[in-house]
Amino acid sequence: MKIINDSQKTYNTVIILDYGSQYSKLIARRVRECNVYSEIINPDADKSELDHINIKGIILSGGPSDINNSSSPKIPDWLYDFKVPILGICYGLQAIIYNDDGKVSSDLNSEYGKAEINLISNKDPLFQNCDDNFNVWMSHGDSVSVIPEHYELLASTDSCKYAAVKFKNIYGIQFHPEVVHTQNGKQIISNFVNVICKIKPEWTSYNFINSSIDKISNQVGDNKVLCAISGGVDSSVTAALLNKAINENLICLFVNNGLLRKNEADEVVNKFKEANIKVEYVDATEIFVSNLNKVIDPEQKRKIIGNTFISVFESFTKKFDNIKFLAQGTLYPDVIESATNDSPNAAKIKTHHNVGGLPKDMNFELIEPLRNHFKDEVRLIGKELGLPDFLINRQPFPGPGLAIRIIGEITFEKLEILRNADWILMDEIKNNDLYEQLWQNFAVLLDVQSVGVMGDHRTYEYTIAIRAVKSEDAMTADWARIPYNVLDKISSRITNEVQGVNRVVYDITSKPPSTIEWE
Ligand code: XMP
Repeated sequence: MKIINDSQKTYNTVIILDYGSQYSKLIARRVRECNVYSEIINPDADKSELDHINIKGIILSGGPSDINNSSSPKIPDWLYDFKVPILGICYGLQAIIYNDDGKVSSDLNSEYGKAEINLISNKDPLFQNCDDNFNVWMSHGDSVSVIPEHYELLASTDSCKYAAVKFKNIYGIQFHPEVVHTQNGKQIISNFVNVICKIKPEWTSYNFINSSIDKISNQVGDNKVLCAISGGVDSSVTAALLNKAINENLICLFVNNGLLRKNEADEVVNKFKEANIKVEYVDATEIFVSNLNKVIDPEQKRKIIGNTFISVFESFTKKFDNIKFLAQGTLYPDVIESATNDSPNAAKIKTHHNVGGLPKDMNFELIEPLRNHFKDEVRLIGKELGLPDFLINRQPFPGPGLAIRIIGEITFEKLEILRNADWILMDEIKNNDLYEQLWQNFAVLLDVQSVGVMGDHRTYEYTIAIRAVKSEDAMTADWARIPYNVLDKISSRITNEVQGVNRVVYDITSKPPSTIEWE
């Protein structure tokens, strides 16, 4: 399957070698906040795999390994071939120093949390516009104990002599500038990418839109592109971008899979009309629900839904004779998370069907213009393209929809119960101005019935679980502290207004150890 995305060769890029730090993605985001394109690369990558990237700077991330251990990851043999500035952060610093015959020791003081750094001189461009002393975020057991002779010391803390060092345009810092707790952190990253690497802040939504419009229209030519829209921000922005690039050759399709929330299909189709994007509507409720009949396993549900989507697309496209491409709103975190899930060392958590579940024999070529973007960047692109806030600021909704929020078997009756409960929850969340503070809020219908009492009658009915989380990017999430009075109103409205429910529970687990969705 060939994937077309925006070619990185266009942009001056900082690559981030990922040594396994929990902060690698944050480094990539910080660089992009300087309007400079960045990409995360495995340090084991072969140099030839980087041919397509216009590398102007390299950052080595932190990581959990011990550099003195023979099996720990070292610097790649091509690191210095590009002759661009290099910044090693934490383990990245240690890897550079180790390679140059310096010493890294585990018997010095470890530091976790805040430390005050003292600059030897604030004349170095890395610390341009920084104070002489400021707080930084440390997280290390090992430290550099001896630097190679030709290296220069730039800064120390009380417990860490070599907190910042340099040799020509190779820099190493023990602290984490990407973390918000480091004062001047953004300034230091901007100093590295904009001043030391000399990359102009040209990576903007405006430039991205213009360059992808050219690229997409050249690649598509006179063929047609099918873009399935869900109403979520990712597919909406993908559709708006394609609409601008190829207009008449774009066919937007909204498939009602019967697993949507109350009124959702009408709302989405109307918003696209308002944005002047033509949408074809197919109601495939019966096919989806009957294919899911008696299916309990969540991964099985995802596969069936992914396959049913494709077969609905394929029969829809028979009406046209030259649809060659399928456009998808895949984002960078999906790509990173799938790469991690595909790695032989990682356990598979879930298949997110917009990346993993497509049948291999699919008859379309894929267009994924947002494959290198984070969600907040996609929202900016959507704004620049003039999409309404309703589409840009929507919480994410999973492709398999309510199917993975009904635990166990899916029936029309359960779908109706969940839809009504979810609608009440959303209504109260919006009424209390909580919607935009939450990453997601939704109801889950459990496969559990329990005893209750209504009036003078015994009831034996379903349980609704409420899930509301705060998150930056769905990789981790914290359960939201919704005020008790709001929870109280949600619970009493659901039990009073939704037939078939006599109990409401609130999910107070974060991710990890839970995932956001229940299935
Ligand atoms: P989890 O449950 O893995 O969810 O913590 C992380 C984010 O991904 C969404 N999600 C999905 N999106 N297809 C999708 O398109 C899926 O199969 C799927 N599963 C989870 C979830 O809503 C959350 O935002």
